[in-house]
Amino acid sequence: MKYLNNRLKIEKINVDNIAKMFGTPSYCYSYSQLKKNILDFQKSFKSFSPLVCFSVKSNSNINLIKEIQKFGLGADVVSKGELMLALKAGINPKKIVFSGVGKTIEELNYAIDENILLINAESKSEIKEIEKIANKKKKKVKIGIRLNPNTDAKTLNQISTGKKENKFGVNNKTFVEIVKYCKNSKNIDLKCLSVHIGSQILDHKPYQKMLKVLEKIINKINYHFEFIDLGGGMGIPYDNKHKKLSYKNYNFAIKKFLKKNNSKIIFEPGRAIVGNTGTLIAKIIYIKKSGSKNFIILDAAMNDLMRPALYGATHKILPSKKRGNVIKKTYEFVGPICESTDKFVTLKKFQNLKEKDIVVICDVGAYGMSLSSNYNIRPKPVELLIKGSKIKIIKKRQKHKDLM
Ligand code: LLP
Repeated sequence: MKYLNNRLKIEKINVDNIAKMFGTPSYCYSYSQLKKNILDFQKSFKSFSPLVCFSVKSNSNINLIKEIQKFGLGADVVSKGELMLALKAGINPKKIVFSGVGKTIEELNYAIDENILLINAESKSEIKEIEKIANKKKKKVKIGIRLNPNTDAKTLNQISTGKKENKFGVNNKTFVEIVKYCKNSKNIDLKCLSVHIGSQILDHKPYQKMLKVLEKIINKINYHFEFIDLGGGMGIPYDNKHKKLSYKNYNFAIKKFLKKNNSKIIFEPGRAIVGNTGTLIAKIIYIKKSGSKNFIILDAAMNDLMRPALYGATHKILPSKKRGNVIKKTYEFVGPICESTDKFVTLKKFQNLKEKDIVVICDVGAYGMSLSSNYNIRPKPVELLIKGSKIKIIKKRQKHKDLM
């Protein structure tokens, strides 16, 4: 995105024109940013050619996943629905890993029938369930075990997953017991050690710590894992104060780990692939003054983008037209939903705004549309993919009649 003659453009198209043509609120993705993110990721870790499995929960638009698949990526899925979607998008089942603490028997059956690369199990009970199905089908099933490395990812508490108080994975003791159990199982083929310590991680040090934990436990059990699945979590900057996770430092730590452990690395990035590709275009419905505050009431709301209400996450907001006159006032950007948490951001200065102005909420490609809902019977926005000067509708705007 950039301004040209004070008009904001996504690739070669004016944001105002997109708003006029497709209405608001609209999710809009940039293909060139998507391509850049994927190539950058692949290049940064190319010395050990990892299998990169896109985390479908971050963005479940099938047309976007079809584009991602063309770069050779696999998928990380957490439900039968996501697995069906990944397969429908053309992702090779041999590149699909299935994570999650609560896979149902139906989901396990489906994953086993589709011959996916790995089911990453998260408890003893799950492994027994997989074994029962495998025995019934007389089929050897490839699995991973998700270790909870008790490592603080130094990210928001709500998206931290690798500490012992979190529900994810198994502790060291259980891990060792499960490895022993699997060694003696006829139809369980233990191939992978998996971890995922959290999301939006900006510092490589938690990853370094996590790798040390893995090294220690692998030495202890003396078992060769064909795959080490390091999960996702690579963070991106949502403001000018932060920088994205340094792939260089992470790469360095992994290479060090691989010197002693010769396994194929799997990554499950979501945000790092799609986060900064997406914007939510919204229109100002009303401006309401109350005391020292100016409420900027948008036609986008927490049902369209839930991250601020759910995690206190902040996203940059940009005007589609630059007016150049920054005014020091309190601007609170809110949606029309009947909840006080339906608020995007409070800013102490912004340019002068008028009703019917168009603004864009930045970096919403990950966990934007995928977390959206129909709360207040609000139809979900259209999703658009921009490639240069071309716009493609990759999901139609819902209609009220769809919701009756
Ligand atoms: N692998 C596993 C097992 C996961 O649980 C997740 C995300 C990922 C991979 C992908 O993580 P990423 O690379 O995107 O950080 N809704 C929150 C994020 C929740 C992440 C859940 N798990 C947000 O909006 O920030």
